[in-house]
Amino acid sequence: ESTKRADTVNPFRNPESEFSVNARKGSRLVNLKRQQKELNQRAKENTTVEGSKISEAVGLKDEKISEKSAKSAKYTSTEKPAYKEDIKATRESLPCFRSRSDLLTMVRDNQVCIIVGETGSGKTTQLPQYLYEDGFSNDGRIIGVTQPRRVAAMSVAKRVAQEMDVPLKEEVGYSIRFEDFSSPKTRIKFMTDGILLREALLDNNLDKYSCIIIDEAHERTLSTDVLLGILRTLLQRRKDLKLIITSATMNAAKFSKFFGNAPQFTIPGRTFPVEVNYSKYPVVDYVEAAVKQAVSIHMTTSIQSGDILIFMTGQEDIEVTADAIREKLVEVYRKKDQISTFEEIENIEIFPIYSALDPELQNRIFKKLDETKRKIVIATNIAETSLTIDGIRYVIDCGYSKLKVYNPRIGLDSLAITPIALANANQRSGRAGRTGPGVAYRLYTEESADNDMYASPIPEIQRTSLSNTVLLLKSLHIKDVINFPFLDSPPIQTLLNSLYELWTMGAIDNFGYLTKFGTDMSKLPLQPALSKILLNSIRYGCSEEMLVIVSMLSIPQVFRRPKEREKESDQARSRFFVAQSDHLTLLNVYLQLSSNRFSPKWCDKHFVQYKSLQKAEDIRKQLLRVMQKQNFSLKSAGSNWDVIRQCICTGFSHQAAKLSGLKKYVHLRTGMHTLIHPTSALYGMGDLPGYVIYNELLMTSTEYLVCVTAVDPFWLMESGLLLYDIKRIEESKETSDGLFNSNEVSKSEDSELLEAKKVVGDKLD
Ligand code: CDP
Ligand code: MG
Repeated sequence: ESTKRADTVNPFRNPESEFSVNARKGSRLVNLKRQQKELNQRAKENTTVEGSKISEAVGLKDEKISEKSAKSAKYTSTEKPAYKEDIKATRESLPCFRSRSDLLTMVRDNQVCIIVGETGSGKTTQLPQYLYEDGFSNDGRIIGVTQPRRVAAMSVAKRVAQEMDVPLKEEVGYSIRFEDFSSPKTRIKFMTDGILLREALLDNNLDKYSCIIIDEAHERTLSTDVLLGILRTLLQRRKDLKLIITSATMNAAKFSKFFGNAPQFTIPGRTFPVEVNYSKYPVVDYVEAAVKQAVSIHMTTSIQSGDILIFMTGQEDIEVTADAIREKLVEVYRKKDQISTFEEIENIEIFPIYSALDPELQNRIFKKLDETKRKIVIATNIAETSLTIDGIRYVIDCGYSKLKVYNPRIGLDSLAITPIALANANQRSGRAGRTGPGVAYRLYTEESADNDMYASPIPEIQRTSLSNTVLLLKSLHIKDVINFPFLDSPPIQTLLNSLYELWTMGAIDNFGYLTKFGTDMSKLPLQPALSKILLNSIRYGCSEEMLVIVSMLSIPQVFRRPKEREKESDQARSRFFVAQSDHLTLLNVYLQLSSNRFSPKWCDKHFVQYKSLQKAEDIRKQLLRVMQKQNFSLKSAGSNWDVIRQCICTGFSHQAAKLSGLKKYVHLRTGMHTLIHPTSALYGMGDLPGYVIYNELLMTSTEYLVCVTAVDPFWLMESGLLLYDIKRIEESKETSDGLFNSNEVSKSEDSELLEAKKVVGDKLD
């Protein structure tokens, strides 16, 4: 059951969480109270609607909507020229368009500019086209646009290609990890911020770009923050490079200051008032509350009054909510119209959006439905600013989002359901007021919003592990990472932990320089631990298998678990189980599929996600190419799968746990109590292994180890020599504290690293 939905306990303000402690400590947040007041004020201003009740306001079909539907009716019924004309009109109706020439003048006159505008004003889709039309890529160079999210990069590229009437991958392309849809012809390239970072690794000057747009900078993803630091230095070398930073209406001043008071331009927006309703009482189950609210809106307002957008935290929540709404609606309509299945209800369609969703399904979300149908879109925070879906008039906000949170005290990353910040809440509500006045339902009390929510979200750099970032910075020859120009400095503890982790992995030497192994690691587009096992597989003679395992770990979902067929699908999944290991289970799935010639039919029969597996195969081929380029000898382990487990252990010795009691595992480094996740091959085993390593830690009300492999404690000792001492593993009591073995530190070491070892040692010993 626990797999279905993350628990809703741990509501606002958890004093235990490092996340909140850090945030409170940060000197940047000194002004928090004032900011919060401002935001509250703004939120309140937004809440009042002129005149009478909102239901009346939205009940009136406003001009804009009828205008729009008239247009869409036109282009479906006529041939291409009319369709083109429509795109032109749509483009010109966006708020950005009126500022077109001012924007271009500003870009011409300044090396860096900050552009601020409401979501949906056309920043992402229009700006690159303006630059293109104005000749910024005439010399064959590229206008690069970064996006924090893969889904956004893809969907926006498709949209711009359509607007420019060119096939995707020619003038307009996109590139996300493991998926390059650009070509030598590409002049406007959308990509994730992570991709541009990796490109900086190959070409320090980013010479092929004439302009770089860092889009959605307010999201403050780790990669965006690091890019900003790198670009600040690069701009001095490349005086011809233009940098444009776009942001929703938060954080803009900060970017300007970071780039020597770069000019800011605010696109005059057009938004409609949104009535904000808070929950009267604390909400125990936000899914249940959201379902009730959505159904009530649907039953009490006219279909034409607008669509509904629900914010949830992630895929599980979204699917559970979608199912529950379907169920509830069937129940309601059964009484009314003698209906027995959801498909029979004709006036509604439900669209989930999350990153693992099939792209074709995602595209359908933007399509306008006919007048007799209402959309209910259930999304993660991707719909906050990255994607604009027209026609939304009702927003339901659960008040949470899923965040990767790093706890520097214990040195672990985990996914946690965390209350959103007030700025996010206002963004979410604002989605209801794009095409007319709207209503937002916040599934939390006004009091908790006022007292317990942060004014702005905590930037990722201050809450996740930085090992990959530090490795990247070191590869860019930035030796002193602690003094790198960060927009907001990460906690020093986190940086030191990362330096230490990289050192224990053998990626940096005692002087803080990248080793040969570290250089090899940085060439792989993977997390350090995965890079490490892939590289070590050469030595262990199991590269063929490890390529598969690493690729399978890089896709979101391997198995399908359709509703109503849970039992059947669980059984199908368990037939793939390799008793000792989820990693080997993944390998097993792949091998079986491969011997069935990647048949979609076979996938269907065995509840395996065909598309995901295709993706994994694609990733495997790409990684294989990277490995072959470096002339590594790649062998197969044959039937000796123990070697594979042993090799996996070399990269994950810092993520190991020891059996303690019947089912509980104790984390070896931190002493934290955990359980094996119910989806694991090891879950139902009568005789659980003494030691395991895991791929991911999922924190809900219980801590779960996700994707687990049994290991021999001697392997752990061998590969985690710096972390564990076998004698202490053997002697350790059941409820052990961490088993950290602080090594003697030699004299000839870099001061940064020395500090790292000292601090990490102190904390964990
Ligand atoms: O970036 P910003 O939020 O300022 O706006 P945008 O993403 O450029 O969106 C401008 C318009 O394009 C909106 O009306 C979107 O609904 C539309 N759009 C679309 O139809 N399909 C997409 N894949 C992306 C945007
Ligand atoms: Mg945008």
